[in-house]
Amino acid sequence: MEFMVLQGDGIGPEVMESALSIINIFNSNFFLKLEPISYDINARTLTQGKWNIDNVLEEAKKFKCILKAPMGDPNIRNVEGTEAGLDIILSLRFKLDLFANVRPVRLFPGVISPLRKFEKPFSIDYVILRENSEGLYSSHFGGLNLRDELAIDVQTITRMGAERIAEIAVDLTKKSNGRPLDGKKVLTIVDKSNVLKSFAFFRKVVSNYASKYNDIELSYMYADAMEQEMVLHPERLNVIVTENMFGDLLSDLGAATVGGLGMAYSANLSKDRGMFEPVHGSANDIAGKNIANPVAMLMSLSLMLDWLDFKDYAKKLENSIISALKDGIKTVDLGGNYSTKSFTDEIIKRLLKM
Ligand code: NAD
Ligand code: IPM
Ligand code: MN
Repeated sequence: MEFMVLQGDGIGPEVMESALSIINIFNSNFFLKLEPISYDINARTLTQGKWNIDNVLEEAKKFKCILKAPMGDPNIRNVEGTEAGLDIILSLRFKLDLFANVRPVRLFPGVISPLRKFEKPFSIDYVILRENSEGLYSSHFGGLNLRDELAIDVQTITRMGAERIAEIAVDLTKKSNGRPLDGKKVLTIVDKSNVLKSFAFFRKVVSNYASKYNDIELSYMYADAMEQEMVLHPERLNVIVTENMFGDLLSDLGAATVGGLGMAYSANLSKDRGMFEPVHGSANDIAGKNIANPVAMLMSLSLMLDWLDFKDYAKKLENSIISALKDGIKTVDLGGNYSTKSFTDEIIKRLLKM
């Protein structure tokens, strides 16, 4: 099966190399037939004229599935100030209508949380479901900078958008193991409906849809209070559904509670397409040093395998990562001394034993 691979910027190619070597092992030792088709699409090649948004999208539409490394170079910007490389990411999400961004927040064994009370593996284990096709980010393709004197971005919430993310939220909650506190299946709608009409509408539509399901509990929290909850009581969280920009902000906070961005992975989904990527960026500060943590990239690959219905392989990869971390095999961001490559070798060793 062919799928698209985007190499990205900064640590992108390093963590992608790790993922590709795992795919090789699956192909050669486990008889999977995964064919990665690699593209040098990133901020630099976009501005050099080799790629533009139209031909990137044209290529991407050929595939059902995309494995994406982090992308973006803060030094390469559009005239109005936004980052050029992000036009690629946002076009893929918006124009392929990948409306559901699933971002698990899980404390893996062997990883030390900065939250003192949380020592047990998976004592933090919830999902941030980020609406990925509207919200404030919808203004990326519009917005206004008038004479460099006035700038406007507008938030969009549609009934259809809120309903379809509610459907995914309910489904995720039902299929989950419930929250770590007591196993109760709880869906929390996160917004600022106390202040903005668009959020009040989001809450109403999601709530109307989700309240039909008696097997899950529905709860509500304002986004500012949610930040405290994620730090003081993450054990009460199971599935959070929220607007696009809030989902972005909350996911890095969630990542910090479970070892940092190197541990945060995600799926961008439509009904028939998926793009799988780490939550983190291209980390230019550590690029080229072979020290990036590849777990976020590898767990994104695991989500991809699961979505493709290669569930056994997804589990094998996840279990190899869990086993390595449990044995104290960690990259520097987690307090260890393994490099990107030597960490990957340890994963491969474990995979081959499964
Ligand atoms: P970042 O996530 O790249 O880095 C933030 C901090 O986390 C840095 O200190 C970095 O070294 C560390 N970090 C991130 N991933 C790590 C890993 N795997 N292992 C170890 N340490 C890791 O965020 P930033 O610096 O704000 O953004 C850098 C670039 O990436 C920007 O161009 C930004 O727009 C882009 N970006 C892209 C994506 C994406 O491709 N989805 C996501 C976020 C940011
Ligand atoms: C993320 C990133 C992206 C976002 C950027 C790079 C477009 O921060 O995936 O979390 O803001 O959604
Ligand atoms: Mn982000």
